Amino acid sequence: MSQEILLAPIQGVTDSIFRNTFQKYFGGVDYLYSPYLRLDKDMQLKNSKIKDVLKENNEGVNLIPQIMTNNSEGFIFLSKFLSEQGYDHINWNLGCPFPMVTNKQLGSGLLPYPERINEILEESLSKNSVKVSIKMRLGLEDDMEIFKILPILNKYPISEIIIHPRTGKQMYKGHINTDIFGECLSLTDHKICYNGDINNLDRYDLLKTRFNSVDSWMLGRGLVSNPFLAAQIKGEEIQENKIEVFKKFHNELVQQYLNKLSGPSHLLSKMRVYWEYFALSFSNSHKVYKRVKKATSIEKYNIAVEQNCNQESWIA
Ligand SMILES: Cc1cc2nc3c(=O)[nH]c(=O)nc-3n(C[C@H](O)[C@H](O)[C@H](O)COP(=O)(O)O)c2cc1C
Repeated sequence: MSQEILLAPIQGVTDSIFRNTFQKYFGGVDYLYSPYLRLDKDMQLKNSKIKDVLKENNEGVNLIPQIMTNNSEGFIFLSKFLSEQGYDHINWNLGCPFPMVTNKQLGSGLLPYPERINEILEESLSKNSVKVSIKMRLGLEDDMEIFKILPILNKYPISEIIIHPRTGKQMYKGHINTDIFGECLSLTDHKICYNGDINNLDRYDLLKTRFNSVDSWMLGRGLVSNPFLAAQIKGEEIQENKIEVFKKFHNELVQQYLNKLSGPSHLLSKMRVYWEYFALSFSNSHKVYKRVKKATSIEKYNIAVEQNCNQESWIA
């Protein structure tokens, strides 16, 4: 069976400009997930968040918008809004680990409350017309919390559960509990997608060998760092000169942000974030990132990028 590769949502990184440009230059990705949409206390969405998911800004991209909520009113409101925008699949975030989120029982902050999850699904799914998948961690503080949640999810028509086998407390680092991930596979009736630290082909091969029944893989940081990785996993043909392809992609990304962001300092801080990832695919990663970080004007930034592309090699 062919494998499905999903681009993970990364707030501040995988926005519509990134997703569109990524899709133009790199293959291998079947579905791209948006960073989460969350209502404020007046049940409003930020304009920038709305723009990010408008169909007209995501043409030709298989986008699955993500929502974050801890009540059925919010769930129903967001799923209706997204259905009106033309989406037939939304993803519910039960994974975000940031204390500002989890303290409000949002994201992975809901995982210790399986009854709450049950209530929200019960109240929302009957009034919902779109497919719902869930992205979750093993727990907030305890990686066995998921064992109480999976039986609840079995009661509902969830299209897929994406599991990042860490707790919220761990944030994005440290031990990935693949043993518990393996146990989850036998406790659910739903399709499961694996997510976490797939940073290279070897890591993917190891996971695929161990979890042969899994056919869906979500890649985040590893794919932003090495945008060829999804195509590599799928065995698709990749152009010889990766740096040339990367350069075209990068230049288009810069052009798009120049049109969108106001002033060079915004552009430079945006691109610095990307280079934290891109640098990992270059020889002398540390130096590569430092060159970009030091650039205080667009001219200096362009020189830094030229140096990175001309003096270093693509090692991913
Ligand atoms: C800065 C940052 C922002 C993120 N934003 C989101 C988000 O909006 N929604 C979400 O479900 N996950 C978010 N994630 C988590 C990723 O989607 C993914 O689950 C995590 O990075 C593990 O996968 P990876 O090791 O392949 O990156 C974020 C991660 C990072 C590092």
